[in-house]
Parts: sequence; structure tokens; C-alpha cells
Amino acid sequence: MDSETQIEIREGDDDKQIVTEIMARSFIPALITTVSWEGFHFAGYEIQITEAKDCYGAVVWPSALVLCYFLETNAKQYNMVDKNVIEIGAGTGLVSIVASLLGARVTATDVPELLGNLQYNISRNTKLKCKHLPQVKELSWGVALDRNFPKSSNNFDYILAADVVYAHPFLEELLMTFDHLCRETTIILWVMRFRLEKENKFVDRFKEVFDLEEISSFPSLNIKLYKAMKKNWRSA
Ligand SMILES: C[S@@+](CC[C@H](N)C(=O)[O-])C[C@H]1O[C@@H](n2cnc3c(N)ncnc32)[C@H](O)[C@@H]1O
Repeated sequence: MDSETQIEIREGDDDKQIVTEIMARSFIPALITTVSWEGFHFAGYEIQITEAKDCYGAVVWPSALVLCYFLETNAKQYNMVDKNVIEIGAGTGLVSIVASLLGARVTATDVPELLGNLQYNISRNTKLKCKHLPQVKELSWGVALDRNFPKSSNNFDYILAADVVYAHPFLEELLMTFDHLCRETTIILWVMRFRLEKENKFVDRFKEVFDLEEISSFPSLNIKLYKAMKKNWRSA
């Protein structure tokens, strides 16, 4: 066996081991309750997430688990305590909940139809457990950004995004939203699930505006975790 093949096999083993660890953070409750929920263990807490299965965003996607695991296991380097954090496309809210439990001041955002379920999950899992009570706010990509998130008052240390790129017609609006929410020092932590070529081209488009660094790759899930910061800030 040549050395390149050996390295590939080792990387595959590492991927499988970490993915197994990540997926082991989720569990199905043993007891049947009136409101069905899915459980997760992150940041030292049991988190109960209710999913609205008739709605595309209202299930927990593997990318969210990857981002939660990353935040928890890299809490020293990416310290969330007292940081201003916004999550876009928050869905059921798992990532926002974990960031809150890790000490961040979080704004969880999504389209209006998901906000009820998002607020429910966030309240249920953060009440009396978090230093800063998370906020839930509408943010439809590219819509009324100046009115709802005026650039002058945006001071986010982190923007979190899990699985926001797929076959939807708002990719330019998504890019515009990242750009609008970013200031010089804002760090974007973005987990991307690769599916089709068209959406994958978004990464190239994204690189026109942001410096993009791949932090982790999970080939068995077709998922990559990126860190990004605004490009050419000084010359802008
Ligand atoms: C695949 S889900 C991911 C949800 C969550 N981040 C996760 O990983 O579990 C995509 C999310 O993007 C949101 N989304 C889609 N189009 C949007 C838009 N135009 N503006 C704001 N959010 C949008 C959906 O409502 C949904 O919550």
C-alpha cells in the first residue's frame, strides 16, 4: 500500500470516529410524551428540541450537530462568553441554544413561519441556565436589513450558520446578509453540506467577498466547517 493511500485511510477513520462521536450527542427519549422531542447533549446540558416536521427548516440537520460539537470542543479558542452572536437560518435553534449555554449573547434568526417553534425551543432550553437570555428575531435574507439590523448598530463577534446553502433561490441574498452583518472583526463560522454543483458554486462566490478558511472536513457527511472574515476591509 503506498503512503498516500495510507493517509487517506487514516483520514477516513478519523472522520468516522469524530462523526460517530458527534452523532452520539443525539438521542430519542425513552418515554413517549404529549409533545414529541429529540434530545441532544451539549455544553453539559440535556437539550430538548421539538421539530415541526411539515416545515423544511424545522428539523435538526447534521450540520447543526457539527457546529454545536465544534463550539463545545473549541470553547477556549472560540470563546463564546459575553460575545455578541447572531445565527442565521437557525431552524429549530439548537446551535443558538448551545452558544447561549456557552455564555454568548445570542440573537437567533429565521423566516417568520419558524419563529414560534424557534422561540419555544430556545425558551425551554435556556431559561435559568444562561447568563444572557437569547433573543429571537425575524431575518429573511436580504429583506429590510437596514431597517431591522442597521449597520451602525451591528456589533457581532460571531455569525453562525449551519446548512444554509442548498437549492433555494436566495443565495445572493444570503451573501448580502452575511456581508451586511459583518464588521471588521466579525468571525463567521459556517458549516456547509455539499449536495449539488450549483449550490457548491456558492463557495466560490462567497470567496469573492470573504477570506475563507476550511477548519474541518467530514467526508462521510459531505460537510465542511469554514471560518470566514470580511476581505479587504482596510482598502474598502
Ligand atoms: C436546512 S435548514 C437548516 C436549519 C438549521 N440551521 C440546522 O442546521 O438544523 C435551512 C434554514 O434556513 C432557513 N432559510 C431558508 N431560506 C431562508 C431565507 N430566505 N431567509 C432566512 N432563512 C432562510 C430555513 O428556514 C431553515 O431554518
